[in-house]
Amino acid sequence: MTLTAKIEVNGTTVELPVVEGTEKELGIDISTLRGKTGAITMDWGYGNTGSAESGITFLDGELGILRYRGYPIEQLAESSNFLEVSYLLYHGELPTSAQLDVFKSKIVYHTLVHEDMRSFFNAFPKDAHPMAVLSSAVCALSTYYQQGDESTQEGLELSMFRLMGKLPTIAAWTYKKSLGHPYIYPDNDLNYCENFLKMMFSLPTENYVPHPDIAKALDVLLILHADHEQNCSTSTVRMVGSSKANLFASISAGIAALWGPLHGGANQAVLEMLEEVVASGKSTKDFINSVKDKDSSSRLMGFGHRVYKNFDPRAKIIKVFADRVLNLLGVDDPMLEVAKELEETALRDEYFVSRKLYPNVDFYSGIIYRALGIPVNFFTVMFAIGRLPGWIAHWKEMNAHPKNRIGRPRQIYTGETERDFIQLNDR
Ligand code: CMC
Repeated sequence: MTLTAKIEVNGTTVELPVVEGTEKELGIDISTLRGKTGAITMDWGYGNTGSAESGITFLDGELGILRYRGYPIEQLAESSNFLEVSYLLYHGELPTSAQLDVFKSKIVYHTLVHEDMRSFFNAFPKDAHPMAVLSSAVCALSTYYQQGDESTQEGLELSMFRLMGKLPTIAAWTYKKSLGHPYIYPDNDLNYCENFLKMMFSLPTENYVPHPDIAKALDVLLILHADHEQNCSTSTVRMVGSSKANLFASISAGIAALWGPLHGGANQAVLEMLEEVVASGKSTKDFINSVKDKDSSSRLMGFGHRVYKNFDPRAKIIKVFADRVLNLLGVDDPMLEVAKELEETALRDEYFVSRKLYPNVDFYSGIIYRALGIPVNFFTVMFAIGRLPGWIAHWKEMNAHPKNRIGRPRQIYTGETERDFIQLNDR
């Protein structure tokens, strides 16, 4: 049965087609609405607007379901690894072991960044926020690879391999610059996360052998962040890419969008909030009361989600994982107890219950990053490394879609109506 929807605008009724997804989601296709009635739809923050048909990630906010290409996040976190998940997101199917080997070797082949980029890092202030450096450096990659033709399958794959290979190197060098330490070159004999940890924490004077459990913990965090359908940064990547800007420029814009504290920057904000609670000596109840106060601009960071209204499945996995990782590393972090107390207090509080506000992916991830030795202002960089394959998969999917057009929303103008210019002397 073909579903339709009727909308009446100022006495004119139009019948619009309804698009149905494989998980029975419905979307009213309003693309002819303006032509037929002169009206557009308004949707602040796009809470009700579908911007794409996508086969990458499914999430159900009411039931707390998250699946990449049909595979539940719980199973991927338990049994897969980040590069396999990256392959899955990009190609749509799990790789055979031969396909995975080729995929990994192509990423590893591209881990070095151009030597000239060293001076680029040197030019940034030591205290620059790493997300600013990351976004700039990724955009700068487009100046080194101008000849790539991303409209072809091979050209796009090459850009994908370059980004996947180089982002951990760029991230680690950003950190090294902030410390004034020498940049450490990638070691292609190590796996993705071990190599990243080595570039972050080794010194030419001291050998650093990444602990396999730490690398594994990091790998799981990257899987949990790898995609999340049309979130702010992914929509940004799609929007920038829709103008036919190259993949590097589009990802750079996505990194900028992710930086904000309401999005990926929340993981940094959560840790800063926990530190503030401890330093202030306030009880968790008093702190919760302060974030409920409408006159205050502060929020309980790491709580609430535009889509999840029951629980965030990633937060569930991360909470259990936080205990496991801290035990494994023998770390006794008081922040974990404060976080748990805040969560318990909030989940009993009518304000949070009635608004369906639950811990999101960022609530506990920072505690794990801290235990792994990642600096607080670097947490969002970790998110970006994890989200990279998702961004690339969306860019690819968008450009391959037959209905793809440049993203260009409309507006309702609320400014002055026409008026005559007043000469400077007469004002
Ligand atoms: N603390 C206190 N109140 C909150 C919070 C919070 N964390 N989140 C939402 N609210 C209140 C908000 O004040 C509003 O109340 P009222 O209806 O009385 O005006 C109501 O809940 C609905 O909030 P909203 O801002 O309309 O919800 P949204 O869907 O636009 O925003 C959000 C979603 C994630 C931006 C928001 O919940 C938030 O700011 N959370 C804290 C930041 C955070 O943790 N962000 C990470 C999101 S998950 C990972 C990612 O996307 O990167």
